[in-house]
Amino acid sequence: MKKTTPPTTSKHLIRWVEKMAELCQPERIHWVDGSQQEYDRLCQELVQSGTFIQLNPKLWPGCFYARSAPNDVARVEDRTFICSLSRDNAGPTNNWEDPFVMRRRLKQLFRGSMQGRTMYVLPFSMGPIGSPMSQIGVQLTDSPYVVVNMRIMARIGKPVFAEIDKDIQRVVPCMHSVGAPLAPGQQDVPWPCNDTKYIVHFPETREIWSYGSGYGGNALLGKKCFALRIASNIARDEGWMAEHMLIVGVESPVGEKTYIAAAFPSACGKTNLAMLIPPKSFKGWKVWTVGDDIAWIKPDEKGHLRAINPEAGFFGVAPGTSARTNPNAMATLARNTIFTNVALTPEGGVWWEGMTDEPPAECTDWRGERWTPEIGKATGRAAAHPNGRFTAPASQCPCIDPDWENPAGVPISAIVFGGRRASTLPLVYQAFNWSSGVYLGATMGSETTAAATGAVGKVRRDPMAMLPFCGYHMGDYFRHWIKMQRNLTSTPRIFHVNWFRKDADGHFLWPGFSENMRVLRWIVDRVRGRALSLESPIGWTPRYEDMHWEGLDFDRQRFEALQQVDRAQWKQEVIGHEELFLDLHDHLPPEMIYERELLICRL
Ligand code: GTP
Ligand code: SPV
Ligand code: MN
Repeated sequence: MKKTTPPTTSKHLIRWVEKMAELCQPERIHWVDGSQQEYDRLCQELVQSGTFIQLNPKLWPGCFYARSAPNDVARVEDRTFICSLSRDNAGPTNNWEDPFVMRRRLKQLFRGSMQGRTMYVLPFSMGPIGSPMSQIGVQLTDSPYVVVNMRIMARIGKPVFAEIDKDIQRVVPCMHSVGAPLAPGQQDVPWPCNDTKYIVHFPETREIWSYGSGYGGNALLGKKCFALRIASNIARDEGWMAEHMLIVGVESPVGEKTYIAAAFPSACGKTNLAMLIPPKSFKGWKVWTVGDDIAWIKPDEKGHLRAINPEAGFFGVAPGTSARTNPNAMATLARNTIFTNVALTPEGGVWWEGMTDEPPAECTDWRGERWTPEIGKATGRAAAHPNGRFTAPASQCPCIDPDWENPAGVPISAIVFGGRRASTLPLVYQAFNWSSGVYLGATMGSETTAAATGAVGKVRRDPMAMLPFCGYHMGDYFRHWIKMQRNLTSTPRIFHVNWFRKDADGHFLWPGFSENMRVLRWIVDRVRGRALSLESPIGWTPRYEDMHWEGLDFDRQRFEALQQVDRAQWKQEVIGHEELFLDLHDHLPPEMIYERELLICRL
């Protein structure tokens, strides 16, 4: 085995790397320094191995294009495990396996799994290096694709080794193999992976083991595995919160800034809301991006919640992203971006459904096959996979918040929950107080999307958008939310939004995207004590005259249809809450029961 000198003095880390190398038997070990030269070299190697195609530098400078294997396109929730010592700690919403059994199985899978490949030692910091809110991990991976993506998504390399060498921080070990060892002389494929997949978390020992996939949240282990599933465990123990939330700063014309964190399930509009550009009629208003996917939220010494975005990049859904829906995302991904599972144009550019009104006359689809609009129509095949994504540096975002890397985070004044719901849920309402807000988040429902494998469009309960990401019992997670308030001197206001309500003909009732600013403004005004509202059975709802309508032709009748709280539909909705609660009953905090009873009484 070829080795280089480890750029760390941590004996513990060196010993672990040696032990894992013995298990996985890679041909080489490479300690990742995180430099631009190293990144460029890895990208060139990926081009040579056929994983990457370099895009036309005149159109897409510094950009690369990848196609995954068709059986490796999204998170695999049914292959994701929380292996706590007791099954009860994982709860009924997580897959569980006895940690001793699982370790044995993983050892077998990883034995020799890196043969013929390089094992990269990839140190990363979630959060700005040195921030008291940051956490460190080391991912061992046999995927150079993962290394270059992680360089965009997290702070990696030399400065992280320096942090580890201070020996004061816990380091989360993250094992990753695509599970495709190469025999001597065997030709590699562009996207190595394995039909057998395991995404495994050991919450007590704070370890992650991922096998068989190279895609997204399955493989970029800093993201969902660490920053949500493991971090939610750390956060519970330490009194803070790890949430599937975007963070935005809304600035008024007089420069007053209000930060909002919002939890929507996967592919339900976080990236879009995080980069919103207000409509022209909102003169002087501006929205700043702190993060688009994950928030770590902690009370400061004064008892106010502050949040950091632990990530350094965006791993965003490509389809639907356009100069009309999200110009800031389009500007962010214009250079130094990695595109996966979108279409490739003959000019060496990328395309996806919704990017332009007119599709290109011809392109190569995400499977590598010729695609024309006619072929698309005849076969029903999209050119880009619905979960095709871009990996782009956050620093390139035109509206990135000046404080996005502030080690102390930004102050949070409002928390918003939202789902994809064709009926029942109004455009916006405000919870009466913290515990009714926790109930509202806990009972959130949403239609499933292509971000995970499985059926699309089915309403399921997705508490706080954390169903696939909470690393312990969901009932205990609700209790943690309830308890958080006790450490606070000011409590953020809690809201629910739904951009996706449809009329009888199946059309969206709300134009969405930049028009969502009207909802953000009402939220800001409520937080600041400036906006009125009506008391409804579910919470405070804006009246037509409480919203700002300049520049949008949206009549009162339509707004009332959008805001309608239909008691019959809501009774059905509560039955849906009930189903989730039945599963969680022996861990539910009493507040959830009381809130449900109060809601039923009001209905
Ligand atoms: P993850 O990265 O998977 O966590 O997803 P996300 O929550 O960041 O979702 P994203 O912003 O990428 O949105 C995905 C889909 O939602 C796209 O198809 C968008 O077009 C659609 N979408 C976003 N905002 C709106 C909106 O205001 N109205 C409507 N109708 N669709 C929206
Ligand atoms: C999500 O599915 O919520 C994502 C994409 O943000 S992934 O990183 O694949 O989890
Ligand atoms: Mn997400």
